[in-house]
Amino acid sequence: MTVERPAPKGLLGELPASEGLRDQFGRVATDLRLSLTDKCNLRCSYCMPAEGLEWLSRQAVLTADEIIRLVGIGVDRLGIRELRLTGGEPLVRADVVEIVAGLRAAHPDLPIALTTNAVGLTAKAAPLKAAGLTRINISLDTLHPGTFAQLTRRPFFDRVLAGIEAADRAGLGPIKINAVLMRGINDGDGAELLAWCLERGYELRFIEQMPLDADHGWTREGMVTASEIRERLDERFLLSPDPRARDGAPAERFEVRDRDAAAGEAPLGPPLGTVGIIASVTEPFCADCKRTRVTAEGKVMSCLFSREEVDLRGLLRGGADDDEIAARWQDAMWLKPRAHGMGHVGLGAPDFVQPDRSMSAIGG
Ligand code: 5AD
Ligand code: SF4
Repeated sequence: MTVERPAPKGLLGELPASEGLRDQFGRVATDLRLSLTDKCNLRCSYCMPAEGLEWLSRQAVLTADEIIRLVGIGVDRLGIRELRLTGGEPLVRADVVEIVAGLRAAHPDLPIALTTNAVGLTAKAAPLKAAGLTRINISLDTLHPGTFAQLTRRPFFDRVLAGIEAADRAGLGPIKINAVLMRGINDGDGAELLAWCLERGYELRFIEQMPLDADHGWTREGMVTASEIRERLDERFLLSPDPRARDGAPAERFEVRDRDAAAGEAPLGPPLGTVGIIASVTEPFCADCKRTRVTAEGKVMSCLFSREEVDLRGLLRGGADDDEIAARWQDAMWLKPRAHGMGHVGLGAPDFVQPDRSMSAIGG
């Protein structure tokens, strides 16, 4: 497939336009999310079926060297300024620390973040920090071991808590915690999770559940919306818009104060901390999206909900030079859809089709 892209005009920051990951709608991707593996040691119901998925073979997954080369092309030629390593669960990959070290050696100033479920973090936190990891995001949806086991279908709650503490001790903070609320399972756990994070100085972000579950059980009516999350938190906390600029960030941030303590306080005292709410479904931030994704088997996905995938692995293994690989990556991004339209599912707009890949197979 050859994609017609107009001739570059002007400058994109310090980069000639020809070198950026531009799309037809004027966006430029500078944030790379790269999946290290499709495998996972949990089975979160919003992501995977109980029996797991058919995993990619070892040969299908990009090697450490291929990953390092691709990131090099992204950073040196295509204007990538931020990297996040995802999965599946990136820590199930035995060479994750070597990958981080290799990326860090090649890019001393690149922010490198990692999203993990923390099951295997106790042993890896300090080595990851030493290898040059910048930041960590940890998924934790509840503080109740029974609810955790129900939601993730695995009894690893204690390991996750130990992993979070290890990351904090290793200096990987400020730790960000991601939570997805599911109706009838953990939709009542938000305020408690927030209190727990505030006490420890962790930054909690709630993410609206997106239709990326392998079971296709998501409904627009059944999902817990950002406004509902806010209402629930409001019962215990006073939330006010964070005065810091949002800067295109997907999370809407709020300063958090204890509702009872703040009553009658004028002016308000300093906040206990902040909370973020990511309304991917009800208030999509597609217009400001700066992301490009590469799956564990080396396919570019311009969007979580893109139905087009462009294979880079074949080029990497077929002797293509960096220019060719960069051009294919640009082609893929040029076709990035304007928006995903999932907020309209069940509300009469038939244009949204759930992707065949689940979150774990794309890379969160
Ligand atoms: N909707 C929203 N977030 C999801 N995640 C996984 N599946 C979904 C979904 N269907 C989140 C996880 C993790 C991140 C990688 O993506 O909670 O924090
Ligand atoms: Fe694993 Fe993350 Fe999917 Fe849960 S959401 S099953 S931790 S990849």
